[in-house]
Parts: sequence; C-alpha cells; structure tokens
Amino acid sequence: MSPWLVPSVVVLTVAAGLSASSQDDPAAGKFYRIVGGKVDARTYNGFRRYHGSCNHCHGPDGMGSTFASALVDQLPGIEVFRSNVRDGVRDGPSVMQGFADDPNIAPYIDDIYAYLQARADGALGRGRPERLED
Ligand code: HEC
Repeated sequence: MSPWLVPSVVVLTVAAGLSASSQDDPAAGKFYRIVGGKVDARTYNGFRRYHGSCNHCHGPDGMGSTFASALVDQLPGIEVFRSNVRDGVRDGPSVMQGFADDPNIAPYIDDIYAYLQARADGALGRGRPERLED
C-alpha cells in the first residue's frame, strides 16, 4: 500500500468535520469564512497584508523562516496576537518591531489573523487564495 493513502483519508475526514461544525455555529471563534474553497474579503485582505509585511520573516504562507517562527504551527489567541503585532515581540536576541504606527498593518491586524487562523486550522492551503464574490 502506498504510504500517502492514509494521510489523505485523514485530511478528508478533518475537512468534512470542519465544514459541518462551521455550518452549525458560524461564529465559533473563527475570523475567516471559506465557502467552496474561496475566502471572504477579510481573509483575502489578510493574505495580501501578510505577504506585504510579514512573509519576509515568518515565511511565505506563514510557514516560518530562519528569521522567525512559523505562525501556522502555533498561532496565539487573538488578544495575544493583537498585542504582539501592535507592540512587537522580543524572544532573546530575536526582536520584532511593533506595527502600531504602520498604516498598512495596524487597522488590519484582525484580517491577518483571519488568514493565519484559516491556515493554522488547515482550512486553507498554501498560495494565493481565490476570493468569494461579494
Ligand atoms: C523583521 C522580521 C519580522 C517581521 C517583518 C515580522 N515579524 Fe513577527 N516576529 C519576528 C520575530 C524575530 C519574532 C519573535 C521570535 C519568533 O517568534 O520567531 C516574531 C514573533 C511574532 C509573533 C509571536 C509568535 C509566538 O509564537 O509567540 C507573532 C504573532 C508575529 N510575530 C506576527 C507577525 C505579523 C502578523 C507580522 C506582519 C504584520 C510580523 N510578525 C512581521 C520577526 C518578524
């Protein structure tokens, strides 16, 4: 048996579970909305903002780089995320400046969170997502 058959079955099961639960409870602490593989405007904006200002340290698609950790593996809760991004983070010798004064980021922190949350949940793959019609 090919070893990749088993993980693909697991992924399908998880995806089915996700869509069922998001239908039951649309809020459920999720910032993103994905229908038929397409993302809402907020999540799409988050994707664009992330790849304008965060990707060169945290890696394309939130996957991490030698400069900073992957955000899809251990995404903090929204409150911590907001203060991390506004005020910055220091982790030993590694420092991230805060974005509180950056007009391209500060108003859109929750949008970036929506994008990263969708990635962290496995609801969205790598690369540029397709956008839902408004
Ligand atoms: C100049 C490089 C750099 C840029 C640009 C950058 N970061 Fe960071 N970020 C870091 C470093 C360094 C840390 C602390 C060490 C680590 O987590 O790797 C960090 C930490 C974080 C953390 C905390 C992670 C954790 O697990 O505690 C979050 C959340 C975060 N960054 C989000 C962002 C977002 C969102 C952006 C874009 C608006 C961004 N960062 C842009 C370098 C950067």
